[in-house]
Amino acid sequence: MMKARTRYAGPITEAKVHPHSLVEQGFADDARLADMLDHYPAELFDINLYDYDDEGQVSLRTGARGRLNGGELLAAIQQGRLWVNLRSVETGWPELWAAAMAEFRKVQATYPGMRAVTNAGQLILSSPKARVPYHFDPAGVVLFHLRGRKRVFVYPGDEAHLPERNMEQVVARQTTEELPYTLAFEGDAQVMDLEPGQALTWPLYAPHRVENLDRFCVSLSMDFQTWPSRFRNGALYTNAVARSRGGRPGFTDRMTSPELAARWAASLALKRAGALKSRLSDFQRDFEPQVGAVDGAGALRD
Ligand SMILES: [Fe+2]
Repeated sequence: MMKARTRYAGPITEAKVHPHSLVEQGFADDARLADMLDHYPAELFDINLYDYDDEGQVSLRTGARGRLNGGELLAAIQQGRLWVNLRSVETGWPELWAAAMAEFRKVQATYPGMRAVTNAGQLILSSPKARVPYHFDPAGVVLFHLRGRKRVFVYPGDEAHLPERNMEQVVARQTTEELPYTLAFEGDAQVMDLEPGQALTWPLYAPHRVENLDRFCVSLSMDFQTWPSRFRNGALYTNAVARSRGGRPGFTDRMTSPELAARWAASLALKRAGALKSRLSDFQRDFEPQVGAVDGAGALRD
């Protein structure tokens, strides 16, 4: 019997590759990307630079959009060590979004009983040597890979790899999506190499990390919520509030559907009441992209 890769029951039981046609449709060509970067709203850019020590522990520098034009910014990413995330593709690049949703529906149709109620996307342009640290998304994910090659490591969604306490903190926006990580997890990973034209999905909430394989990469990361994931996220939020008040809430994977639904309903009221203030404030930027600078990261200019 196959050991379940996650303790959160869902229609996706393991990481799996699906085909998609976004590359043939030309969405990852240099000219198209440069033009898109010229027009993409500046407030929807996240620019990160990750460094790792020998134990695989990550530190992060963040960049401002800066004033490079689209072609220059593309060159800085292609030559540097940057990870550029364009949020809200649904508003930032509606043409790509419409095509991606058509592909999503095909993937979804292969999982009986799976029904997304909301979808959102982020377009990721990343340097040949960029690596994304170990984290989880409180959602389902389909990663449409469009250009370059990347290696995706997917880990079991059990308490050892994905402690609920940390999930609560992420869902309640008390921290970013990073989880405690140790090199000992590596033996537990399902490892998949992605080529352009392939889309990868994995069990909802499963922790993962990504390494680019020496090429500039373009991927559209689409996340989605189902009613069960909504209920669970609500329950995790309610548990975060309870814990902040000294409570010791039980694990959500031991709750029945009505219990999860009740906690989701409670979370809506708690959010309205502002029970937990987000600790993700506007943080300081460390650099802005520059062609020819080390890692593609130049000094900030006023
Ligand atoms: Fe992710």
